[in-house]
Amino acid sequence: MYVCICHAVTEKQVRQAVDDGATDVKSLKQKLGVGSECGRCIQATLEVIQAQTDAQPRYYEVA
Ligand code: FES
Repeated sequence: MYVCICHAVTEKQVRQAVDDGATDVKSLKQKLGVGSECGRCIQATLEVIQAQTDAQPRYYEVA
């Protein structure tokens, strides 16, 4: 599914970018261009960021 129509950015691309460390709209804007034209995709982008960060484990292996 497309998150950003202006730049043809898909939900999968946003999820991958979040996994790669772009965990806010500013970072995703620089990396993928989301929100840099009409801005209608910002809310959907925030929802994908939230869903993806919730899906990541909140612990780190120490040893
Ligand atoms: S839909 Fe993303 S900037 Fe327009």
